[in-house]
Amino acid sequence: MIKRKIIVGNWKMNPRTVKEAGKLFGEVAKGVSRVKKTDIVICAPFIFLEELAEIRTSKVKLGAQDAFPGDTGAFTGEVSADMLYELGVRYVILGHSERRAFGESNNDVNKKIKSALAYGLWPILCVGESDRDHNHGYFSLVKMQLEKCLAGISKNSVGKIIIAYEPVWAISTTPDRRDATADDSREMTIFIRKILSDKFGKNAGSMRILYGGSVNEKDASEFLENGGVDGLLAGKSSLNAKKFLEIINTAEHIF
Ligand code: PGA
Repeated sequence: MIKRKIIVGNWKMNPRTVKEAGKLFGEVAKGVSRVKKTDIVICAPFIFLEELAEIRTSKVKLGAQDAFPGDTGAFTGEVSADMLYELGVRYVILGHSERRAFGESNNDVNKKIKSALAYGLWPILCVGESDRDHNHGYFSLVKMQLEKCLAGISKNSVGKIIIAYEPVWAISTTPDRRDATADDSREMTIFIRKILSDKFGKNAGSMRILYGGSVNEKDASEFLENGGVDGLLAGKSSLNAKKFLEIINTAEHIF
């Protein structure tokens, strides 16, 4: 099955002002007018989404970095999947390692995925180990993350779920980080596809898998060609319009 490539930018808690956010988003939107084969998503902080929804184009979709289950309710500080959809947001990163570090469990992520799907958002589920041990325990960890986060999800909705493999040890802000290779990515994505196909049968074939962890404009082609993935999730390099556009163009021209 031919799947569209997808490049996702995760701005994290950046930039500082709505003005800077608008400028960065606008530069990316302007630079992708010729892109046809690649889906592009920018996941921005909540407070910028309304402004960005005004300037989004059909080519650059808006994403959030978390979404609380449900529509409205007594949940101080939270923003629901329903509210995000109403604003024009279509994707949401869920289970990012930086949120798991605040105590978010696989069970929490599972509820958020179900709610995101129910309200029309495409969940981008992040999985990945903090470290690699010699006994290969990281495979069981990723398997457990997938099984728990995707528990009870119907086969018919899996085509809207995107999996992002993000080894935490390769993320740009992890202290003493190391580079992951396309081989690391390919080995894990083969494993992930096997788990998904055991769970969802042939429907799993439509699920896209991304690599994320210090992706930049120089190694994007290596991960896209040899990493076994359908796209990339870029953090730091998505904060620089020129670099992010180079990554998008690499994806666009690779096949
Ligand atoms: P990075 O972030 O590209 O800055 O490593 C990726 C992520 O954490 O999603």
